[in-house]
Amino acid sequence: MIDPVIIVGGGVIGLATGFELIRAGIPATILDRTRAGRGTSWLAAGMLAPDTEIGFEELELYDLNRESLRRWPAFAAAVEEASGRNVDYRDDGTLIVADDPDSTKRIRRLYEFQTEQGLDVDWLTGDEARDCEPFVGPRVSAAIWVASDHQVDNRLLLDALREAFLAEGGTLHENTTVDSVRPDEAAPVVVTTDGEEIRGREVVLAAGVWSRQIDGLAPVGPLPVRPVKGQMIQLQMKLPFDLQHVIRGPDAYLAPKSNGRLVIGATSEEMGFDTQVTAGGLYDLLEGAWEIVPGVYDLSVDDTWAGLRPASRDHAPIVGRAGAPGVIAATGHYRHGILLAPVTAQEVTKLVQTGETSRWIEPFSPARFSGPIPESSA
Ligand code: GLY
Repeated sequence: MIDPVIIVGGGVIGLATGFELIRAGIPATILDRTRAGRGTSWLAAGMLAPDTEIGFEELELYDLNRESLRRWPAFAAAVEEASGRNVDYRDDGTLIVADDPDSTKRIRRLYEFQTEQGLDVDWLTGDEARDCEPFVGPRVSAAIWVASDHQVDNRLLLDALREAFLAEGGTLHENTTVDSVRPDEAAPVVVTTDGEEIRGREVVLAAGVWSRQIDGLAPVGPLPVRPVKGQMIQLQMKLPFDLQHVIRGPDAYLAPKSNGRLVIGATSEEMGFDTQVTAGGLYDLLEGAWEIVPGVYDLSVDDTWAGLRPASRDHAPIVGRAGAPGVIAATGHYRHGILLAPVTAQEVTKLVQTGETSRWIEPFSPARFSGPIPESSA
């Protein structure tokens, strides 16, 4: 029997990669330090938003994001079919709103950049924004309508992906932490903190914020991924409050899910692995949300948390041969992990199948970090 591909990390990237490998007829084993799907990806908001999140100097990343969104409907359908579960994939579109002169100037600049790049976006007055989404508040004076940005319920997705991976015959070892890798062209090995050695035909490092802690990646050294903290709040929507669209304001975004979850995020803090929820963080988010959607005031608070985004040194994902024999990186997805799951999983699967790095992932090769790691990013 051929050795499986060993995937270190059972977040959205690891699970999706396992799912795609198995569907391609390649055995896969996922190792997760706790329960698969309960880390960073569980704490996300599920926005699939290349057009909203386009960055001024990040057009290669935009192309990758856009390509992944194009693949999302088929990916969601495949996961739903294999798991028998719904993932609440929604294509309602997003409103980027402004509520003062400064934020209007900022979104106008974004709108001009988006139109220069040929994106399908519309400039709206405050009243037009309220016609589109009645829960947008009276302070909102301008908005960008982004019809082509979508969303998914990341929690439903993760449970469905885990189920789909197992249903298709994948092997899952939970509560298993990987300490190091022993690279080898033909038979790389991962070593767990319990000293167990597991051999694969390839190793895929999809350990998100934990990627840097995996030893043994000679000659390249650890992958340069650091955690960026994001505090979030979950409210429970209750009629007549029934927000239909993702709303992005200057200080907070709101992502409503079909089961009534309303996810509000997110702070962005360089705090290492700290996951404390603070009064200041929650205050800023609630104020930011209330200013653009005042109806949140009466909703009950379900939960609060802080997640850790896995950010690389240039904030783009790290996908491809890791420079250590038999090891492929699929990490550092920062703000776009849920969005980038299909393209990452499918292109890593192709890399395993053919040995070729596709044009989609080529710009995101770990080779771009092959110099020494500066102290400041540790
Ligand atoms: N992509 C949303 C966030 O990083 O907060």
